[in-house]
Amino acid sequence: MVSGGARGLGAAHVELFGEEGASVFFGDVLTDEGSALEAELRQRGLDVHFLRLDVTRPDDWSAALDRVLSVRGTLTTLVNNAAIFSPEGTEALSQRRWRQVMGVNLEGQWLGMRTVLPTLVASGNASIINICSVYAQIGSPDAIAYHASKGGVRIMTKSTALEYAGRGVRVNSVNPGVIDTLFAGPATPETESAEIGLVPLGRKAQPREVAHASLFLASDDASYVTGAEIVVDGGWTAH
Ligand SMILES: NC(=O)c1ccc[n+]([C@@H]2O[C@H](COP(=O)([O-])OP(=O)(O)OC[C@H]3O[C@@H](n4cnc5c(N)ncnc54)[C@H](O)[C@@H]3O)[C@@H](O)[C@H]2O)c1
Repeated sequence: MVSGGARGLGAAHVELFGEEGASVFFGDVLTDEGSALEAELRQRGLDVHFLRLDVTRPDDWSAALDRVLSVRGTLTTLVNNAAIFSPEGTEALSQRRWRQVMGVNLEGQWLGMRTVLPTLVASGNASIINICSVYAQIGSPDAIAYHASKGGVRIMTKSTALEYAGRGVRVNSVNPGVIDTLFAGPATPETESAEIGLVPLGRKAQPREVAHASLFLASDDASYVTGAEIVVDGGWTAH
């Protein structure tokens, strides 16, 4: 199951995991984009299923899990990917926006884990991948709520990993740097070159290059990996 799968990094997960032979259920609030992606990937023979999911709503998560169980009978992997960005600094940010960002990015991931964990435990061998950010590791002079939410995701991941270590569920995060998506809105030439200037590899990541880290974490090749974070940032945080 992939949240926020209608476009960007989530869509790359849906496509990659589908190509690997998984049955992929993906949710989003963007229903037109989600349905279009479902139709496109099904035409290529992938077993993908779109459903409307607002990650801030516990009932949506329950309905999504019910759908998975009615079609496949089990669930082994959750990719908690949905998030929103907000560029405001500490004083410019409204309380409403703070709550929105924390609600989607942090509470939404917790709600997802809480909903699916009993099923993951019952499966006997499962993996949760929480999409985090290098903004959980380093600060910047803006986007205060986004930093706070991803900092929360980072440590929540480690705590849940410890909680479920003896119950067959590995829990890890993937921390991307700059990905070529529409996440922070359309880039201007100035923001584009400023972002790329931070990256030793000299370019943004393609969404698929990040999804490959999740694919590893979901697989049995990562059977000894839990509570970890895979940084996929082109070297940004290496120095
Ligand atoms: N793009 C980057 O540079 C970058 C860098 C680091 C981390 N990330 C992380 O990657 C992940 C994916 O972001 P992206 O770059 O693909 O951006 P994106 O905006 O293209 O994708 C985010 C998706 O989440 C969905 N979403 C938003 N609110 C939702 C809600 N309440 N319920 C369900 N779905 C919701 C959106 O509709 C969208 O499809 C996010 O967790 C983001 O924090 C992105």
